[in-house]
Amino acid sequence: MKKLNIMTFAMAAALAAVAAAPENGKLWYDTDGHVINAHGGGVLAHEGTYYLYGEHKVYGEAGNKAHVGVHMYSSKDLCSWKDEGVVLAVEETPGSRIEDGCIIERPKILFCEKTGKFVMFFHLELKGQGYRAAHTGIAVADAATGPYKFLRSMRPNAGQWPADLSDKERTAETMRKFIEIPQWWGGVAKQWGSHFAGGQMSRDMTLFKDDDGTAYHVFASEDNSTVHVAELTKDYLDYSGRWWRMAESQWTEAPAVCKKDGWYYLIGSGCSGWKPNMARCYRARSMQGPWEFLGNPCRGVNELNGVGPEKTWGGQSNFILKVSDALYLAMFDIWKPKNQIDSRLMWFPMEFTPDGTVSIRWCAAFDRCKR
Ligand code: GAL
Repeated sequence: MKKLNIMTFAMAAALAAVAAAPENGKLWYDTDGHVINAHGGGVLAHEGTYYLYGEHKVYGEAGNKAHVGVHMYSSKDLCSWKDEGVVLAVEETPGSRIEDGCIIERPKILFCEKTGKFVMFFHLELKGQGYRAAHTGIAVADAATGPYKFLRSMRPNAGQWPADLSDKERTAETMRKFIEIPQWWGGVAKQWGSHFAGGQMSRDMTLFKDDDGTAYHVFASEDNSTVHVAELTKDYLDYSGRWWRMAESQWTEAPAVCKKDGWYYLIGSGCSGWKPNMARCYRARSMQGPWEFLGNPCRGVNELNGVGPEKTWGGQSNFILKVSDALYLAMFDIWKPKNQIDSRLMWFPMEFTPDGTVSIRWCAAFDRCKR
């Protein structure tokens, strides 16, 4: 192998076993021949089946709101996807938190071994309120394919101090330091102290389950300026009250987390709405931090649109699926805010070096990232 080739033999073997992966940035079809409609979501691996789920988009700018719900597909090989239908549906009842016309983004699902339930978290914005609510929605199901029952929505961790503050530091004076903080771009961010009583803002998000079963909700908070890592209760249906801040005032969105060889990795984007920007990567030895900035993991140019790593091939990070120890897939969305139903998916294998750095190279489909 050439010196620059950091793909391991194990990963190459795992990829060689893949049937025929869908092509990045093109339309993906289900086994009925319909275009796959699952954006901003993720993949759950459970008992030999993969479940791809995400936001069901509709035509035109109406696709920027939720009019259908969360759509799911199942597969044995990550390549051929069977339609499992809408697993969390928006509601018609006026005033429902998930009323048709609300915003449901970045749904993520974990299986809880302790309860045998499937738990879905998502970014929820209440109908008619733009992005002001900054809520987390929680739903639960008895089967991977649902139906998911909406339980409630809220801003997380009301009345809870960041876990790394000592008892002595938990004072009104400390909190005052984290109210309105001027930012490098001239504006201000309302930091956690502003939201202590009512709960922390939560927008772009992911869920991550650690090897010991502890689950975390990782979300853009504090006006999107800082990421919060919040531990969940053992049944994953609530917050334990322990939470930590990371990437403080770095305006990181679209978080996706994985763990490999004792390192936790978080890949995210900057904040430019639906427009693509440069991806970023952090790593830590613990979900509690401290997190080290690793820069942009993306390499190469999208052959379809000519966009390079400086704009994440025209996309935004979304989720990382651990397929096996040898294969981790980093998933991205290419958004089409004028017609979100035309948004595209891109999946790439992640390449890890022995010293714990990461790169993600453009390839036409995730099984074609071979050298
Ligand atoms: C993006 C975010 C999307 C969506 C969009 C709205 O930055 O990642 O999930 O919220 O902003 O403009």
